[in-house]
Amino acid sequence: MIYPNTKLGKYEFLKQNADFAEYLPQTYEMTDENIKLLFQENKTIFAKSNTGFGGFGVIRINQLSPTRYQTIHSNDKVYTFDSFEHLYNYLMRMSGGKTYVVQAGLQLLTYDRKPFDIRIMIQKNRSGEWVTTGIVGRLAKRGKVITNFMNGGKVYPLTKLLSAYYERKERDYYIERLERYGKRIAVYMSQGYPGFRAFGVDIGMSKDFKPWIIEVNTKPGTILFKHMKDRTMYRRVMRYTKYKSDSGGEKNASDKEREENKEND
Ligand SMILES: Nc1ncnc2c1ncn2[C@@H]1O[C@H](COP(=O)(O)OP(=O)(O)O)[C@@H](O)[C@H]1O
Ligand SMILES: [Mg+2]
Repeated sequence: MIYPNTKLGKYEFLKQNADFAEYLPQTYEMTDENIKLLFQENKTIFAKSNTGFGGFGVIRINQLSPTRYQTIHSNDKVYTFDSFEHLYNYLMRMSGGKTYVVQAGLQLLTYDRKPFDIRIMIQKNRSGEWVTTGIVGRLAKRGKVITNFMNGGKVYPLTKLLSAYYERKERDYYIERLERYGKRIAVYMSQGYPGFRAFGVDIGMSKDFKPWIIEVNTKPGTILFKHMKDRTMYRRVMRYTKYKSDSGGEKNASDKEREENKEND
């Protein structure tokens, strides 16, 4: 079975592994039945392009009452609908024939009343082993429902964003666990998606501290690490982008430049 490099493909592949299945928010292709199914158990769901990136076109849909719905878009637009049919017609028009996915909404942890999620960067080292090279918190811009750097999200050390929730020792331990979790996800993902040298895992932590896997990126950007005050992580991530086990050689400057311009999340 070949799993396509899409949100649905990667979700289906991850779901095959019992270690990760319980950390996947339910995700389906966007159809009227699947939206209804998700609203049976969730007040909030997310709709997004199956091949999207950077948070562009992500829509949070809130059910306000049995018949009223509200959509909040990545570009901040807000609309309300007075029936399911109106909501659904709108979503169909908006998606313009492209495959969209709908996903159970998570109540993300907050800092300064803004939601944040976590990006874990896992890269192959010189010997082809997976190593967690970076982990950062991404804090949404005020009023936004997405945390992506390309959409105004700000990057902070996780220690800072988790400070309201954990004592220092507990926090350090939890972050170490997340680093190992990211590595396990990458090791598994590389079996279904061979050939990639890096994975960027988006983790959403719910109020009960469960680390939900929002999505796994196969071409994770490096730029967000550059925006950390402490450059240690950025330097490590950049060092690992140079490793190519197949050729063993280092990339030249133009390869590196191309990669920096290819930031896609
Ligand atoms: N199910 C969800 N619950 C809560 N927040 C979500 C959910 N899905 C997406 N988001 C928010 O939107 C952002 C972008 O979603 P994501 O699935 O990672 O798409 P993209 O490929 O555009 O980055 C996430 O980083 C998160 O902040
Ligand atoms: Mg993402």
